[in-house]
Amino acid sequence: MHFLNKKKQYIAIGMLIFVALFFFHSRPAFQCQIAQETINSNLPTIYGITPTYARLTQKADLTRLSQTLMLVKNIHWIVIEDSETKTKLVSNFLKESTLKYTHLNVKTQKAKHSTASGVEQRNLALSWLREHLNKSEDKRGVVYFMDDDNTYALKVFEEMRKIQKVGVWPVGIVGGMRVEMPLVTDGKVSGYNAVWKPFRPFPIDMAGFAINATLFLQFPEAKFSRGVQSGFQESEILKYVATKDDLEPLAENCTKVYVWHTRTQKPSILNPKKLKTPLLPDGHIEV
Ligand SMILES: *[C@@H]1O[C@H](CO)[C@@H](O)[C@H](O)[C@H]1NC(C)=O
Ligand SMILES: *[C@@H]1O[C@H](CO)[C@@H](O)[C@H](O)[C@H]1NC(C)=O
Ligand SMILES: *[C@@H]1O[C@H](CO)[C@@H](O)[C@H](O)[C@H]1NC(C)=O
Repeated sequence: MHFLNKKKQYIAIGMLIFVALFFFHSRPAFQCQIAQETINSNLPTIYGITPTYARLTQKADLTRLSQTLMLVKNIHWIVIEDSETKTKLVSNFLKESTLKYTHLNVKTQKAKHSTASGVEQRNLALSWLREHLNKSEDKRGVVYFMDDDNTYALKVFEEMRKIQKVGVWPVGIVGGMRVEMPLVTDGKVSGYNAVWKPFRPFPIDMAGFAINATLFLQFPEAKFSRGVQSGFQESEILKYVATKDDLEPLAENCTKVYVWHTRTQKPSILNPKKLKTPLLPDGHIEV
């Protein structure tokens, strides 16, 4: 009898401990999840604008970029194809990604005096963005023009959420330099370390700045142009929204490189007609 009572007591104590442990363990997890969601919805959206065109390395490049973006919170990827119609490759690719995206397309108008790429595509994305923000309650956000073959560290996205107007930072391996970057004195941009066309109003690569999205509503005329010489697209868009004094040096006062202007080499592919072995025809599998 005495023994049985002891057993019951042990069971009761055991159950108490179990219940206590359950609450102790589950409560913090629950709170943590809520905290995470609140943080996410309070983060300004990053609108990544990426023009892209059909080529052998397109899917490889888009894969690499999209898998970086999968690690970024509150990102909205705007992908604009340089084509008459949306291709099956990019449509399916975006559908299969878990990203929040918008898929657009516009064919580049061949211009005699302008070899700039992405002008029509980025402008179309900006038109879409203006309409989207105009009807959105949350007008906060950051616009970042992203090439599909650059290399982006996650830190560059953390930095750009601090932007008030226009944020700038160094870009690695660009313009014939190891790094092209704004020079910073007392926390302000005082000049630029650039050798390629240093007379550009803003000698900054497309990957080296991001703009507060609200400014595109404030300046509805801000856009890229085919009427400027090569290398002046960055200066063209920035002139509408900022002066040098407005630039906010990020990445620890421009002392860190968080983005690289890498380029995917054009692969050399053997001509199937010159090969003796019969091969599967081109297009038998998506590459
Ligand atoms: C952009 O500007 C708006 C309005 O001035 C401001 O509320 C917001 O905090 C700024 N920054 C971002 C990242 O949206
Ligand atoms: C940037 O430099 C300014 C002026 O020297 C300083 O006050 C600020 O703390 C620096 N910011 C960072 C992130 O290092
Ligand atoms: C935003 O919407 C208002 C009202 O519909 C319109 O008058 C205005 O032109 C729109 N602005 C932009 C930048 O699209």
